[in-house]
Amino acid sequence: MYRLKNLFALLLLVSTVSCKTEDKSYNEGINITPKPLELVRKDGKFTLKDNTVFVANGEPVRKVAGFFTAKIQKSTGYALQTVQDSPSGNCIELSIVEDLNVNGEGYTVDVSAGGITVKARTPQGIFYGLQTLMQLLPAEIESPSPVKASWTIPAVSVRDEPRFRYRGQHLDVCRHFFDVEYIKKHLDILAMFKINKFHWHLTDDQGWRIESKKYPKLNVTGTLRTEGEGNVYGPYYYTHEQIREIVAYAKERFIEVIPEIELPGHGVAALSAYPEYSCTGGPFEVRNIWGVSNDVFCAGNDATFAFLTDIIEEAIPLFESDCFHIGGDECPKIRWEKCPKCQARIKKEKLKDGHELQSWFIGQIEQTLLKHNKRMIGWDEILEGGLAPSATVMSWRGEEGGVEAANMGHDVIMTPGSWLYLDHYQGDSKVEPVTIGGYTTLEKTYSYEPIPKGLNRDKVQHILGAQANVWSEYIYDPEQAEYMSYPRVIALAEVTWSSKEQKDYGDFERRIANQLVRLDGHSVNYHIPIPEQPGSSSDFVAFVDSAIVELKTTRPLKIVYTTNMEEPGISSKEYTAPLKFTENTSLKTRSVLSSGKMSPVRTIIIEKQTYAPATTANISAWKAEYYKGKYFKISELRDKTPDETENAESQGRLKYRIPGYREINEDEYCSLVLTGYFHVPEDGVYCFSTEADGLWIDGKLLIDNEGTVRKIVRTDKSTALAKGYHPVRIVSLGNIIGGWPSQWDNVSVRWKGADKQKFVKLKIEN
Ligand code: ACM
Ligand code: ZN
Repeated sequence: MYRLKNLFALLLLVSTVSCKTEDKSYNEGINITPKPLELVRKDGKFTLKDNTVFVANGEPVRKVAGFFTAKIQKSTGYALQTVQDSPSGNCIELSIVEDLNVNGEGYTVDVSAGGITVKARTPQGIFYGLQTLMQLLPAEIESPSPVKASWTIPAVSVRDEPRFRYRGQHLDVCRHFFDVEYIKKHLDILAMFKINKFHWHLTDDQGWRIESKKYPKLNVTGTLRTEGEGNVYGPYYYTHEQIREIVAYAKERFIEVIPEIELPGHGVAALSAYPEYSCTGGPFEVRNIWGVSNDVFCAGNDATFAFLTDIIEEAIPLFESDCFHIGGDECPKIRWEKCPKCQARIKKEKLKDGHELQSWFIGQIEQTLLKHNKRMIGWDEILEGGLAPSATVMSWRGEEGGVEAANMGHDVIMTPGSWLYLDHYQGDSKVEPVTIGGYTTLEKTYSYEPIPKGLNRDKVQHILGAQANVWSEYIYDPEQAEYMSYPRVIALAEVTWSSKEQKDYGDFERRIANQLVRLDGHSVNYHIPIPEQPGSSSDFVAFVDSAIVELKTTRPLKIVYTTNMEEPGISSKEYTAPLKFTENTSLKTRSVLSSGKMSPVRTIIIEKQTYAPATTANISAWKAEYYKGKYFKISELRDKTPDETENAESQGRLKYRIPGYREINEDEYCSLVLTGYFHVPEDGVYCFSTEADGLWIDGKLLIDNEGTVRKIVRTDKSTALAKGYHPVRIVSLGNIIGGWPSQWDNVSVRWKGADKQKFVKLKIEN
């Protein structure tokens, strides 16, 4: 599948060869992203030829030149030489100018018909100047093999420097693992957009991904897990050699790799191998569900600190960054409260509570890092109980932690979830592949302003920059990681590099068309907005007289469609206004980029119905039946007797309590079968959605979620119902499909009338 896609991307590129590149609309104008600080257009253009030379002096700059001549050779076939003395004309001259009027990462680029000069104070600045030059060339410069194009660069004068020194991207390799090849490919793309930090989340409850020679059980026990359905995931980890390889690869691209080793929470993978460093002594298994575990490192046991110090000291020599991330987020204090050792520690150190114990814990680790001249970074929970003196805070639960820490004089990296968590949906959850939840469109990420309101004006310099995070609970493979990362990472690049005054989402959207073709050159599976239907059911639309279907995308794109069962293509009918249907129809639709690349196809079934009659039977109250144990199929419940049955007080308000065994133990599974009646106020088409496994109305299965990865509402469906009562059955199975325990206590059914556009939420209250 992956290979086929690469082949498709290649064919797409090859098909552009015969046309002149300037004719491609995506190559029109200046597309440099992130947008430079100053750019002046001049008359004329420079043409890159097979005898163009780079002029570079000094090994570091020659190395940068070598990086780009190799890149240019791939797409143009030109073997450009790098020389030391400036020949007359047709050259790209790179020079270090120590007093250039830009910061250490900045550069100037001057392009005229006769030649190009790139100046900077550092080789890193030269590298960014040349990335800008690549972006002034047609997008096909990123092709993986030689293509014919008119390799011209418009005459411009650019002066540019980043707004922030921390421009970061994070990747969780614990929930799902990404191999060296993928990480390198990812670093290639980050470098194109001048991102300079790669935050590598290496350890968590669900997997330990960094080799330890001192604690070999980590490599065996900690690196694999048995998933809910019984499959073994792993063993996956990076060897020391592979880590060094990645660090060196990143360095060539001026990207600093910041490792994260999580403590005191998110450590179950380590504790599964060495349970003696927990409060209870275990045993533990590498966690196979997402969320937060109560089992954490014991803060009262000196041996825990010896272990963690060894781990950190083993990791430190593998990385070149001045920073070391120690996690610090989401650490429950439940075990510490019951642990005699932890309680003795609290007493001995005269601490107030678990928060202060956490702060003390992190203070111990800070001492180890300071010994090795490493600056400690932690998630914003490290503020609770007192912030370690030298800590840099990553503000993720919003901006408050960042504001608080910066106002205290600490350095801060902004990564608030609402804007910068790229594991969130980037379109309608009913048409996008399943994610952890949230809703963060490209525009939302782009809108982020890293200097938060409420920050004291004299503390602005403590905001080092911002970072986009990719947590991988629902990101199973590289294809999906790319889908979630791009193009939102490019928005993050502009948020952190470009000046606030330069930001313009409309212009960014225009430039993205060009940038996506560059990503095609690297076979990146980026997100293309899929046509959605605002305020209507998604894949199944019922109607009585006629149905109106409106389509839109999260950013303006051409939408094409067919109604004859054929796959829509570039030249299929273009959607321009809401469509009206009076017959059963299978509507197929997709969006099209200016490059001709298309989104996945969506099929929407449009069905003519008559109002299903209301029941004439006696209406009884709602009934709940509980079945203890793990069930994956609704049919498995058929011959079972419920362990408990309850009747609700009325059909209007549902009030059920969670059985005690579920409250105490999250691993205790239980299924729920709920039966009752909906009152339909008037004849109409009603739209239903639920995260339950099945929803029946009038004895007919309307929504079938069985076997799907749930947590959020995935599907909805409409149906025509006559006024009156209709029998309803809802089944929610207790299992762990997708690594998240299905929680029937959260089951809700939403429904609305087609005209009213209002969801009535039927929630089972605990
Ligand atoms: C986090 O997202 N738990 C830092
Ligand atoms: Zn303890």
